[in-house]
Amino acid sequence: MNKRVEAALNDQIKKEASSSQYYLSMASWAESNGLNGTANFMYTHSDEERFHMLKLVKFVNERGGRAEVPQLEKPPHEFKNLKIVFESLLEHEIGVTASINNLVDICLQEKDYTTHNFVQWYVSEQLEEEALARTILDKLNLIGTDSGGMYMFDRDMENSLIQVNNSNEDPGQ
Ligand code: FEO
Repeated sequence: MNKRVEAALNDQIKKEASSSQYYLSMASWAESNGLNGTANFMYTHSDEERFHMLKLVKFVNERGGRAEVPQLEKPPHEFKNLKIVFESLLEHEIGVTASINNLVDICLQEKDYTTHNFVQWYVSEQLEEEALARTILDKLNLIGTDSGGMYMFDRDMENSLIQVNNSNEDPGQ
C-alpha cells in the first residue's frame, strides 16, 4: 500500500490505542472513587477504542501493509473531579478528530480512494463521540458541585452505555 498512507494509518493505530489506555485510566479513577456508572461507561469506551485500533490493524494488513503495535505513554491517572475527566475526554477526542481529518487529507492527496472510503467510518464516529462528550459536559455544568446531582449523574451514565454501544455498531464487521 501507499507508504505515506500506511504511516498515517499506523499513527492513527497509536492514537486509538492511547485513547483506550486513557479511558481505562479514567475508568480506574472513577471506580476507586465510588463512581461506578462513570467507571462502566469508561471501561466500555476503552473497549470501543481498542476495537477502533483493531479495525485499523486488520485493514492495514489486509491491504498488504504492515500494522505496527506501538509503545504507549502512561496516561494521566489522577483527576480533580468528574468535570475535568469529561473535559479531558472531549479535548482528547477533538485531537483524534483532527488526526482523522489529516488522514482523510493524505488519502485524497495520494489518490487512495479505498482507504478514504474506509476512513469515513471514523469521520462519523468522531462526530458522534464529540457530540456525546458535549452532552455529558452540559449535564455536568447544570449539576455544578451538588453531590445529590452528582449521584444522579453517575446513575445516568449506566444508561449512556447504550448510546456508546449503538454508536459503534458496524454492520461491516
Ligand atoms: Fe476512536 Fe474516540 O476515537
